[in-house]
Amino acid sequence: MKHFTSMNQLSTNDIYDILHTAEEYRSHNYKMNEQLFVANLFYEPSTRTKMSFVVAQKKLGLEILDFHAHESSTKKGESFYDTVKTYEAIGAQLLVVRHEDDDWYRAIEPYINIPMINAGAGQAEHPTQCLLDLLTIYQEFGCFEGLNIVIAGDIKHSRVAHSNAQALKRLGANVYLSAAPGFEDPSLDLPYVTMDEAVELCDVMMLLRIQHERHDQFNTQIHYLENFGLTKERERMMNEHAIILHPAPVNRDVEIDSALVECQRSRILKQMNNGVYARMAIMTTLFNNWGIINETAFEKRELLYHKQIGS
Ligand code: CP
Repeated sequence: MKHFTSMNQLSTNDIYDILHTAEEYRSHNYKMNEQLFVANLFYEPSTRTKMSFVVAQKKLGLEILDFHAHESSTKKGESFYDTVKTYEAIGAQLLVVRHEDDDWYRAIEPYINIPMINAGAGQAEHPTQCLLDLLTIYQEFGCFEGLNIVIAGDIKHSRVAHSNAQALKRLGANVYLSAAPGFEDPSLDLPYVTMDEAVELCDVMMLLRIQHERHDQFNTQIHYLENFGLTKERERMMNEHAIILHPAPVNRDVEIDSALVECQRSRILKQMNNGVYARMAIMTTLFNNWGIINETAFEKRELLYHKQIGS
């Protein structure tokens, strides 16, 4: 794997390796003692993904090159391809890209000589969100096989749903979908349940944000929370061990009652924290694949780092 653009690129063994690496990064401080430049090219808004990549990069000792689309030569008409080649030419050794196109990477991939990571592609995929979601589930249950996982909300327009549905199915989970009329996605061959059924059967309730920026299908007359969301009454019907996930940002009191966002079974803030370690793991996986760093050198650097800080 040269670029990480889709969960389909990872075997189940690859996924477990990344989850274990992420856990290793949580418990041990790894820092490179070599100058490596990276850039985060976000053409769509982001808080969590961008900032957790920044924290992950700083933890690894990477140098971050600035990019703000609205202040860049994009405003003068420079193409996405020319921007990427510019960053490559001035020395970036990894690019993290969020873009409104479902397949922003397809046309440029053959011509780019540094690794790229998909940080959200239109409605298609959000693979690093999927990795952090998987890490959160794995920490909780220690496995995926046989877990009942409901993905509920605006399935049709959600890149998070698309990455998670296929990855969780391959990992052996029983994946169900729950959606208001018009938010179903016929491309996903998975059973649908109502929210009342979902809360009783699930081990993991993965809620999705209504993607208002991608469509105007939201009908305020349908009483979304009461009919299709997670209300306090429904939360009381969940299994004792069941957890709530949401990629955020959250539309409070739409897909979830505001009081449940930080309730005892919510792992929403934990997901954000896991994003840092999952993203550290995918970045070093790609650096290794490209020979930019190798395992031995990386371990040596860790020893050096610990020597430097006297630990
Ligand atoms: N979950 C997620 O992708 O959040 P941001 O849009 O804030 O990055």
